[in-house]
Amino acid sequence: MAIKYSGDKMTVIPLLKDKSIVVGVTGGIAAYKAAALTSRLVQAGARVDVIMTEAAARFVAPLTFQALTHRPVVTEMFALLAETDIGHVSLGKRADLMVIAPATANTLAKLAHGFADNMLTTTSLACRGPILLAPAMETGMWQNSATRANMALLRDRGFYFIGPEKGRLASSDTGTGRMAEPNDIFEACRWSLARKGPLAGKHVLVTAGCTWEPFDPVRFIGNRSSGKMGFALAAAGRDQGAEVTRIHGPTARTAGDGVRCQAIQTARQMHDAVLDIISTTDVLLMAAAVGDYRPASFAGQKIKKGQDSRSVELAPNPDILKAVAKQNKPGSQLQVVVGFAAETEDLLENARKKLDQKKLDLIVANDVSAPDSGFKVDTNRVNILDPQSEPVTLPLLSKDEVAANIIQRVIVKLEEKAGDQPGKD
Ligand code: PMT
Repeated sequence: MAIKYSGDKMTVIPLLKDKSIVVGVTGGIAAYKAAALTSRLVQAGARVDVIMTEAAARFVAPLTFQALTHRPVVTEMFALLAETDIGHVSLGKRADLMVIAPATANTLAKLAHGFADNMLTTTSLACRGPILLAPAMETGMWQNSATRANMALLRDRGFYFIGPEKGRLASSDTGTGRMAEPNDIFEACRWSLARKGPLAGKHVLVTAGCTWEPFDPVRFIGNRSSGKMGFALAAAGRDQGAEVTRIHGPTARTAGDGVRCQAIQTARQMHDAVLDIISTTDVLLMAAAVGDYRPASFAGQKIKKGQDSRSVELAPNPDILKAVAKQNKPGSQLQVVVGFAAETEDLLENARKKLDQKKLDLIVANDVSAPDSGFKVDTNRVNILDPQSEPVTLPLLSKDEVAANIIQRVIVKLEEKAGDQPGKD
């Protein structure tokens, strides 16, 4: 998702909208899953052309894909040569992305050696955009040295891969060779498309969700953060080409979105995890709701009932953003630090104080008092504050849109900082 501004008007452009994507389907039992992938791409606004090999068309009828895409499905090279707008290389030339799912061992071998003996391999050779492969085959074929060598060649030539995974195979055996799930391939499509985006080469670190501070083996002090805002930020950074790491507290959300993940429970674990990789981070986005305090002691066994009242003594947790600011010396890799301020009153004043105290480049002031904003919900109301300028108030937006907006401002900050470096005009 990208944000374009024209004066004050903001337009959100989803990453896949109007992108030309070729889905190549080869002959394997996983071919039926390519229909789910195709459907997701179409629903995301992409213009999808499907090319099937002869073997693929034996597993799934081309009509399935035609119904999903509302476009003719290409199965034969020579049948198309007569058509002016679908010549044998034109699909490849105009594709923003080609994804081959499933990619059999046979097709991997052909691609590695430059064969152009069917419409799928011909289009791959002509393709100017990135090509993502989702291999699927029996374990023995996957482990065969010929396939390993073909994979190495393809990797060297810049093909992207997702999977295969370990699981039940067509032969009923269990092993590595099962095609990645359509949802994961969909996310990898987004990742592959974004590879040359404005954040290419940048490492973005996002913290997400709540922390749990235990006081006995079954109880803890926590908060209501679901991780949705942080997950949306990680996806938005990935969609602009960044390598993204997400350090997240306990959450029901799952990974598999092209983002490196590290799960933690407590604020101190998050502190250590962030400081461990901060020296290789370009942008830090602290969306996590980190517990400011933890129980001063931990009871090794479950605390028994028996008293009318009980109090828990608290000890302060380290402030992660302050620790980062302390460590961040001039010339280090970290360029932009964005904090969040979850507030129920005096939103802008409190956020401005945190912006100054935590030495941030931007702070996202988050009104968590409204039912459609803040914790758990899919929408958010935020103001973005910069040390130098007036706050920017965003309307009620989905968390994905808020995230895209924040990332856009991070890109501008990075450009400003690059411009400030000695030797730049
Ligand atoms: O996860 P969701 O359900 O989608 O909800 C999203 C959200 C409301 C949690 C998110 O948008 C948000 O506002 N996150 C920040 C919540 C928060 O802890 O705010 P704070 O004002 O207490 O902290 C200010 C900043 O300092 C934050 O960036 C926080 O990550 C950071 N912090 C806080 C405490 C601490 N010990 N170390 C820190 O670095």
